[in-house]
Amino acid sequence: MSTPNTYVPGLEGIVAAQTKLSKVDGLAGELVIGGFKLETIANKASFEEMVYMLWNERLPNEKELKDFRKSLAKLRELPEPTLKLLKAIATKKLNMMDALRSAVGTLGLNAPKENQDQWMAQRLLAAFPTVVAAAWRLSHGKRVVAPDPKLGHAANYLYMIEGKAPSDARVRGLETYLNTVIDHGLNASTFTARVIVSTASDFVSAIVGAIGALKGPLHGGAPGPALDMVFEIGDVSKAESVLRKKLAAGERLMGFGHRIYKVRDPRADVLAQAAHEFYEADGDMKFYDLVLDVEKVALRVLEEHKPGRNLQTNVEFYTALLLHGLGLPTGIFSPTFAVGRVGGWLAHCFEQRAAARLIRPQSQYIGETEKHWMSLADR
Ligand SMILES: CC(C)(COP(=O)(O)OP(=O)(O)OC[C@H]1O[C@@H](n2cnc3c(N)ncnc32)[C@H](O)[C@@H]1OP(=O)(O)O)[C@@H](O)C(=O)NCCC(=O)NCCS
Repeated sequence: MSTPNTYVPGLEGIVAAQTKLSKVDGLAGELVIGGFKLETIANKASFEEMVYMLWNERLPNEKELKDFRKSLAKLRELPEPTLKLLKAIATKKLNMMDALRSAVGTLGLNAPKENQDQWMAQRLLAAFPTVVAAAWRLSHGKRVVAPDPKLGHAANYLYMIEGKAPSDARVRGLETYLNTVIDHGLNASTFTARVIVSTASDFVSAIVGAIGALKGPLHGGAPGPALDMVFEIGDVSKAESVLRKKLAAGERLMGFGHRIYKVRDPRADVLAQAAHEFYEADGDMKFYDLVLDVEKVALRVLEEHKPGRNLQTNVEFYTALLLHGLGLPTGIFSPTFAVGRVGGWLAHCFEQRAAARLIRPQSQYIGETEKHWMSLADR
């Protein structure tokens, strides 16, 4: 047992859970998900296979995958109260993460008494894309597009955002993205979900809490600003001066650096490959080349700015490139991260349920202990 009075700010280095879901090695630049090195599975598995694998510790066979897809299809459509709430939210012009958090809180409606964890997990996973797409369309004055039972999870997401069936290349690109971000050790939102489940609370409550943690700009918010930075540069000839100006003004270059990875983030490589394949097949190669040129300049000026710190490209930089190429608006980059990460959050909910141990750390009291009561009239 650790010494109770040792305070570790940010819990850095504290091991607070055991997991079979993912291993993050920040020094080697390696990410293992469910026993697979990320680069061996992210661009091959469908998102449904990836989730099944994390929830069941093995890949599904053909029948199991078919049944899983069928169950999700039945739970994809939103209940009337959720739709009503989203319509009300649209009139208030809420941030998309606030809309997602509010609507997800209603997804426990109609939960059966038996087997609640399984039902809620499938309901949450299935309905996340529907909520984001509906919130986005309603906030832009468009009618909601109902899910198509013939389409898979990723294809449905793109379909419900745009109202037309997406190309295979776009679906593959999105699946690789969702698989890449599905789990990443005991990050803040995953920890939040596990703490909530550890109190024997329900999965909907855990996921609402996780969304709240993900919303913070220190966790899930960099790809939008990374893309804005590239747009601001516009032409590679301006990259050096724009980036140097930002650094001189004390700004950080979005999409570079990482708390855990001290070498290149392995997710950046997987997404770089996916972006390359997608842009070559179906994208604007001029924009793709600009982003890669900006990256080269950014790495050079960052090395001069912080020599030896090895500030490298992180997952968010290539997220911006890939999601923009897939046609997703920046306003739903963070909720799209949640559409992928919810598969991992729920896997952790199952794992924490099985661990059946209340998470209850200690605090170190640093206040006074000898104060005297003073009546209201004397204060
Ligand atoms: C992700 C991030 C918060 C990690 O931070 P960290 O590992 O704790 O690194 P630190 O904040 O201790 O930074 C070390 C030094 O490098 C600098 N630095 C780190 N990332 C930088 C960046 N992207 N641009 C410019 N300088 C950066 C810091 O200012 C710090 O300088 P200092 O020692 O003079 O204070 C940080 O790299 C960052 O803000 N990146 C930009 C935002 C981003 O892309 N976030 C998505 C992460 S997946």
